[in-house]
Amino acid sequence: MRQSILAPIQSAGITPNLTDYEEARRSFSWAQAEQHFSWSKTGRVNMAHECIDRHVEDGYGDKRALHYLEGDDERVWTFAELKQETDRWATALRNEGVRRGDIVFIFLPKNADCYIAMLATVKLGAVAGPLFEAFMEEAVRDRIADCDGRFLITDPDLAVRVPRSDLPSLEKVFVTAGAEQCREDEISWNGILAATQVTDSPTEWVELDAPLNIHYTSGSTGKPKGIVHAHRAMIHQYQTGHWVLDIQDEDVYWCTAHPGWVTGTVYALFAPWLNRATIVVSGGRFDADSWYAAIEKAGITVWYSAPTAFRMLKAAGAEVAARYDLSTLRHVLSVGEPLNPEVIYWGLEQLGLRIHDTWWMTETGAQLIVNLPSEPIKPGSMGRPIPGIDICILDDAGIEQASGDIGHLAIRAPWPGLMREVWQNEAKYQSYFQFGGWYLSGDLAYRDADGYVFFQGRSDDMINSAGERIGPFEVESKLLEHGAVAEAGVVGKPDPLRGEIVKAFLVLKPGVNNTPELIDDIRLFVRTHLSAHAAPREIEVIAELPKTKISGKILRRELKTWKTPDEAVSGLPASESPSR
Ligand code: PRX
Repeated sequence: MRQSILAPIQSAGITPNLTDYEEARRSFSWAQAEQHFSWSKTGRVNMAHECIDRHVEDGYGDKRALHYLEGDDERVWTFAELKQETDRWATALRNEGVRRGDIVFIFLPKNADCYIAMLATVKLGAVAGPLFEAFMEEAVRDRIADCDGRFLITDPDLAVRVPRSDLPSLEKVFVTAGAEQCREDEISWNGILAATQVTDSPTEWVELDAPLNIHYTSGSTGKPKGIVHAHRAMIHQYQTGHWVLDIQDEDVYWCTAHPGWVTGTVYALFAPWLNRATIVVSGGRFDADSWYAAIEKAGITVWYSAPTAFRMLKAAGAEVAARYDLSTLRHVLSVGEPLNPEVIYWGLEQLGLRIHDTWWMTETGAQLIVNLPSEPIKPGSMGRPIPGIDICILDDAGIEQASGDIGHLAIRAPWPGLMREVWQNEAKYQSYFQFGGWYLSGDLAYRDADGYVFFQGRSDDMINSAGERIGPFEVESKLLEHGAVAEAGVVGKPDPLRGEIVKAFLVLKPGVNNTPELIDDIRLFVRTHLSAHAAPREIEVIAELPKTKISGKILRRELKTWKTPDEAVSGLPASESPSR
């Protein structure tokens, strides 16, 4: 029978790093976590130093730091090799004029270069701006232009998606290839590296509040905003890597996210390396066979992924899983979207393990609400706040709700991972703090009597498709650039595999015929100019969009509950405005 509470599963011979949650909630303070860092003794702060160099200084230079796999391509770097490599890249960047505080955009596939570029940038005290590898020109342009980016590291395949003529601020584009693969306005990074001599340490010591990285993230209005984190976030990231990822010295750790998303930076790179883990980087697109093969080949023990990926593995069937030895796995975690109980039961059956849901956001810098290996799981709940974090559920007036009542999920600010700023947008930053010292997440939730938090949706129109955060405004703006589109309203539509899919409602320009070819063309237009993940999977043509009477703003909420009349489905003629 399916249980509503799942007790911890003890892996043979392994005691979790955190065994007494209640006690830690009573006694833990962030000042204790600071003691872990070399800067608590030396006063010299740098995230890259704590991720790599200090482990070499502590005698772990020969330990495997990075195991890269893609198909038959496989390579391993030790911590000592990574130190050498990041020193070389950082020195080369410095020689090319990159200075402390400069933003370096990194537009690379999920490979070792991407990880090394991130660390080298941070080592130099510069700010890493990772871009998701599926971004197309418009997404790349918006982000680089927003902060007048001067430096970019990319590869020959992705370089073609960088609209140089629209980006006058971009002074240097380094392409990770030989000169023969670079255009005239690009610089061969291979050539630069070959000529680089490391004569002194390129590490720049910075303040805890110095900017570390910038991630653009969508809201329900306007273009994506740049969320800037500080080196201070390492305190929170280390501690959650220790407690929640439960990283221990023998672990081989795999987080499937690309560094262009915050999970791919914080939990595929910083948190595990702060905990001295061996991390696996597996390139290529999702494919059940290659994912299971990666687990078997690298002997992965701790695995962090997302509900959509687990649902895809479930859909691939037990016979695919049965072809691989997955017995090394001991701890599995999930993030980014609601983890439905069905997936947890699949994990129990298929892997013999609980899947531990975790909740956080780009803005929060690290996990806040989690399921710990030592604690019971209630399927359907995101878990409880980590020690050191206080949360509450507020109503619209900012009054705390009783347990069981749904309201706005809020966190008592500040905490070490909290964003440092929203890039050049103080008003946006302040908008998160409408109720004094509480950070408002924009999520709706309730808490049960045991303090477990249950996600209930968003209070705004943000879309979450396969764990990727998509702003409807960005997609609507792109749709309006298509010659046939007069008006566009974009919403998330519930989907059994992806949680939500992007659905667009369009009003076509007068005289334009609604044909399947046109709909395909519109979808492709968004896909090729903005990004594949943001392209509407469903498009419905209607006669008129519901709008507010006074300001004429699109009522996305009404579109969400729109009843599709049979004759108005994608590819068929637009109907009269349906009556609702
Ligand atoms: O709505 C919540 C959802 O993802 C949003 C944050 O998105 P992003 O900044 O892209 O960060 C994603 C990963 C850190 C949240 O406001 N979300 C995140 N985790 C969960 C979740 N929804 C339900 N359950 C979760 N565990």
